[in-house]
Amino acid sequence: MSETLDLIKMTSDAASEFEIALGSVRANPTPDAVEALRLLFIGRKGKVTLLMEGLRHASKEQRPIAGKTINTLKQQIEEAMSSLKEASANWALDEKLKQTPLDISLPIDHMAPQGSLHPVSLMRRELLREFRRLGFSVFDGPEADFDFYNFSALNIPEYHPARDMQDTFYLREQPNLLLRTHTSNIQIHCMLNERPPLRIVAPGRVFRCDSDPTHTPMFHQIEAFVVDKNISFGHMKGVIDSFMKAIFGSSMKTRLRPSFFPFVEPGAEMDLQCVQCSGKGCRLCKNTGWLEVGGCGMIHPNVFESVDYDTDTWSGFAFGFGIDRMAMLKYKLTDLRPMFEGSYSYLGQFSRYT
Ligand code: DAH
Repeated sequence: MSETLDLIKMTSDAASEFEIALGSVRANPTPDAVEALRLLFIGRKGKVTLLMEGLRHASKEQRPIAGKTINTLKQQIEEAMSSLKEASANWALDEKLKQTPLDISLPIDHMAPQGSLHPVSLMRRELLREFRRLGFSVFDGPEADFDFYNFSALNIPEYHPARDMQDTFYLREQPNLLLRTHTSNIQIHCMLNERPPLRIVAPGRVFRCDSDPTHTPMFHQIEAFVVDKNISFGHMKGVIDSFMKAIFGSSMKTRLRPSFFPFVEPGAEMDLQCVQCSGKGCRLCKNTGWLEVGGCGMIHPNVFESVDYDTDTWSGFAFGFGIDRMAMLKYKLTDLRPMFEGSYSYLGQFSRYT
């Protein structure tokens, strides 16, 4: 009986000792302190382990009572130890961070792969640089625009096939609202807002319902136009030739072929000497030696009238070329579609041009 009482008394002493020790280890839960605490109480020679062993000497009747008391304490200690273990892991992490502070301001370029500009951005950047050198200013216009700016004011009558639903994306929100089919709409916005003389360049996205290796429903054009006194077809040819040579090399030849666009008169198609065969004839140029890049011409008097410019005073030229088309020719690309699919490996090829 007295041994059992002793055991219970010793257990309650051990419990108080543990409480005190736990308090100090919790305050500073180093892994060593946690392990020492564990050994002191529930290790092989620990106080509670020894109490368990002492049960052997207790009488048969008293053993369960003392056993239960000791066991309860053991469980409490085990629970406390497992939460201490967690605290100790956090403590270790804190210590590590204190020793090797994380400098979030360090550059990460040694870890991240180097990005590059999109071929269209590269091409546009080069074109704009050249146009600025020639004294042009950049102007912008809306991608979703009214019929008036995209068609009517550009002398494209209502029955013109370009307005066909199959080519043009019309917007449901409002009648007469559409996604611009060319950057020529910017001519109208600009001319209505500014007075001549004008030397404007306007790159932008355009939209047509079309998709094959050389056509995507969204693509890029660059529009340029000049309005001044006594502007001639020769001025236009000079500007086109000059920037094409700047981009494709000084030996690059260009040619103008008569063509029709409602907003110019006379109108022409601009061809670039084939970049692959230098004019000898190959598959890319379909053996013609020439590649089509865009349209141009002298601004039609009806266009000037729709923006209220005096046609006796002012004359001008305009042209609109495909930026993507020029990028394909410059970077020797055969398919236009992957340009707009965002594939990292495809786009990564252009880093050497950046
Ligand atoms: N807007 C025409 C197109 O997308 C291209 C064009 C032709 C623009 C003649 C012009 C031009 O400024 O004068 O097909």
